[in-house]
Amino acid sequence: KDKELTIAIDGWSSCGKSTLAKALAKELNYVFVDSGAMYRGAALHAMRNNLVSRNHVDINRIIASLSDVKISFKNNAKGKAELYLNGKNVEKEIRTIEVSNSVSSVAKIKEVRLFLVKQQRIMGINGGVVMDGRDIGSIVFPLAELKIFMTADPDIRAQRRYDELIAQGDKITLEEVKANLIERDEMDSTREESPLTQVDDAIVIDNSNLTPEQQLVKALALVKKIKKV
Ligand code: CDP
Ligand code: CDP
Repeated sequence: KDKELTIAIDGWSSCGKSTLAKALAKELNYVFVDSGAMYRGAALHAMRNNLVSRNHVDINRIIASLSDVKISFKNNAKGKAELYLNGKNVEKEIRTIEVSNSVSSVAKIKEVRLFLVKQQRIMGINGGVVMDGRDIGSIVFPLAELKIFMTADPDIRAQRRYDELIAQGDKITLEEVKANLIERDEMDSTREESPLTQVDDAIVIDNSNLTPEQQLVKALALVKKIKKV
């Protein structure tokens, strides 16, 4: 049996990380974990309790409420992993612009990160996992055999995310989407606790001009190379 790798995919907002992670996991028969969904779940919980909004973050009460936050993933009938918060499916709700506008304020809290990183490490304890996020190669799995850093032109990323939200019926403008991506990228890369960084041993994939199929081919070639060593 092949050695089961740990694959870490980090990068900017909406640059195709989950799309690649999901496709790789399917191809390799590995577990896929969207760590961003977990931060979105924690942010949704804080929003529901009025502990975070655009211009206010009640850090102490968010930390105190973590004991009431139970995050899990469950596959739907089509085999797609969906996020559950305290036993309820919140997959749709965590993708709204409201959550996108608050998530980075919650994700910068050290205790929130420790709480989720602990769970993420357990999910990948036996290898055979593809996890995407911001700090997977740097903090969650610093020994991952393959680390990919994804990037794409900001306008292309905004357009892709906009198309996705419109397709699911959201009323939103391209400008709102772009502003959110810029704001999150800035917050995520400048925060004190495990900021988004490109680690030295990461391989960069710029998918501005790649289809999801083409980015998968590139990543699979990297996997093949590592397995041969
Ligand atoms: O899908 P998108 O790139 O827009 O974001 P996401 O991966 O769903 O992550 C949402 C937010 O969670 C990010 O903007 C970060 O603030 C936070 N996050 C994080 O801090 N660390 C991670 N490993 C993953 C996400
Ligand atoms: O996980 P992350 O936020 O980095 O991005 P994603 O949710 O995987 O991708 C954002 C959007 O870009 C989705 O609608 C993907 O289908 C699309 N995408 C694309 O059009 N071409 C790629 N090469 C990668 C992603």
